Amino acid sequence: MEFNQITLEMGDGWTLLTINRPTVMNALNQETLREIEQALDQVEAQKKTGALILAGAGEKAFVAGADISELRQLQSASDAERLASWGQRLFSRLEEMPIPVIMAVNGYALGGGFELALSGDILLASERAQFGLPEIHLGVMPGYGGTQRLVRLVGKNTAKYYAMTGERMDADTALQLGIVQKVVPSADLLQEAKGLAAQLTAQAPIALRYIKQTINQGIETDLRTGLQLEASSFGLLFHTQDRMEGMNAFLEKRKPSFRGE
Ligand code: HXC
Repeated sequence: MEFNQITLEMGDGWTLLTINRPTVMNALNQETLREIEQALDQVEAQKKTGALILAGAGEKAFVAGADISELRQLQSASDAERLASWGQRLFSRLEEMPIPVIMAVNGYALGGGFELALSGDILLASERAQFGLPEIHLGVMPGYGGTQRLVRLVGKNTAKYYAMTGERMDADTALQLGIVQKVVPSADLLQEAKGLAAQLTAQAPIALRYIKQTINQGIETDLRTGLQLEASSFGLLFHTQDRMEGMNAFLEKRKPSFRGE
């Protein structure tokens, strides 16, 4: 499929989706959202993708938010609400994908760009990365999940601080807050992301999927229900060939070879 706003590249154990609008800091317009949806359709249909990496084209930005020239033209509250709901559905789809999603944040991740990054499972940032929710400076607020996902990571008042001030945080602050899992030199970012994707691809895929699902669902519920979910997922994994392979390989002192069965 031909894309105008993104590129999609597949390698050994990874698929790289790059938002490619560098002249506007990779801002997300509606066509970009549509193309990301189509790319996810392709990735899901293709089934053998180990992990998905999202990145932004160029040197300066991951994604600097929703496209403000498009936002300015929205005519009504219901148009704005529809757009927010659409982006939220798309980002939730990323969050719930059955494979790991790695965000490779190479520069500005602002507004919708920060919200996109927050829907990933693992965030790698370059030393130049900057995160923020500057919507308040536009007289609006986050609409692609920022008020909901950031608070779950950093707590109520820290989330309010960043959403209410619009202040940016650098990569090290994001690391300290637990938003980012690793900060690397800019030149190494994509290699690092591909290496991590390949590392995850070598793990047992069904176990990976259950870990992701159990953590995602567990954080939305109480501890008792979360623990039940965990026990039930743990039990289900005992039907898999991969758990026999993993345990046999350990006892036979060899590397496991997982097949996702
Ligand atoms: C449209 C954008 C843009 C955006 C940058 N550009 N961000 N266009 N939408 N979100 C354009 C600029 O207009 C400019 O176009 C070009 O990209 C380069 O940007 P500069 O500002 O000249 O670069 P620089 O000085 O390096 O500053 C980079 C920046 C700044 C810090 C990222 O561009 C910025 O603050 N951008 C806006 C960030 C923002 O407010 N995001 C939140 C959007 S609202 P020209 O034509 O001049 O070259 C949002 C809501 C989500 O995300 C929820 C929706 C439902």
